[in-house]
Amino acid sequence: MTTGLLEVVNVSRTFHSDTGDVHVLSGLSLTVKQGEIVSIIGPSGCGKSTLLKIVAGLDLEIEGQVFLEGELVTKPSEQKGFIFQEHRLFPWLNVERNIAADLSLKNSNVRSRVYALIKLVKLQGFERAYPKQLSGGMSQRVAIARALLRNPKVLLLDEPFGALDAFTRSHMQDALLDIWRENKTTMLFVTHDIDEALFLSHRVVVLDANIGGIRTILPVDLPMPRKRTGSAFQELRMHLLRALVNETPDKHSWEI
Ligand SMILES: Nc1ncnc2c1ncn2[C@@H]1O[C@H](COP(=O)(O)OP(=O)(O)OP(=O)(O)O)[C@@H](O)[C@H]1O
Ligand SMILES: [Mg+2]
Repeated sequence: MTTGLLEVVNVSRTFHSDTGDVHVLSGLSLTVKQGEIVSIIGPSGCGKSTLLKIVAGLDLEIEGQVFLEGELVTKPSEQKGFIFQEHRLFPWLNVERNIAADLSLKNSNVRSRVYALIKLVKLQGFERAYPKQLSGGMSQRVAIARALLRNPKVLLLDEPFGALDAFTRSHMQDALLDIWRENKTTMLFVTHDIDEALFLSHRVVVLDANIGGIRTILPVDLPMPRKRTGSAFQELRMHLLRALVNETPDKHSWEI
């Protein structure tokens, strides 16, 4: 019996190597509701990307299960849109063709969806531009549009704005919230950035490298759009920072 759109149930992942086994996740469970934005935060190497790949169906060598709308995840699919830190666009395709990817723009339904998404991610006028002509933020917006074209049930974002400067990053956070307001897309969002997690998400999941699981989950009960300088935001920031630095620093370095 499942209760959320996305259910991660008792998931463990161990990597085997010549030098021994690395237990990255141990019995991690998490439920994400329809329309929820959940951020995953934690030190480098604690298993954030591993968790996202498992949810995406890209890593199946696990114990435990992942369910999307009650269905066991057994492979990658378009229902789970994945956005990487680097945009991974096809350099030889222009913006509209990158978004359409293997779908034909000759199909009027595809064309109208592509153009609606170009509007949503505010890239009108750049339909025919090639990736090398785009900034990092614009490229990430193309990647987001490409994922959204498939009407994913969940968007999985692995530090999507990590390579962007602070100004562009803030714009992209606004853009992502615009998309959420329009589509109410469920999102699982990996970040190193406390402010980004608090600005974007309904809940922040703090992973703990030592236990291979969830240290704490912080609900962010603030109306959107949030004011980073507001006192309630700052209070949550301190709360989250305290939860994070509680991590014993001997095993992994911090990148926050
Ligand atoms: N394919 C693999 N083979 C062996 N070990 C792996 C593999 N993928 C990940 N690991 C190990 O699992 C641990 C977690 O890696 P993961 O990439 O999930 O961390 P992360 O939390 O995303 O870190 P970062 O913040 O640096 O991106 C690391 O110790 C890593 O070395
Ligand atoms: Mg990672």
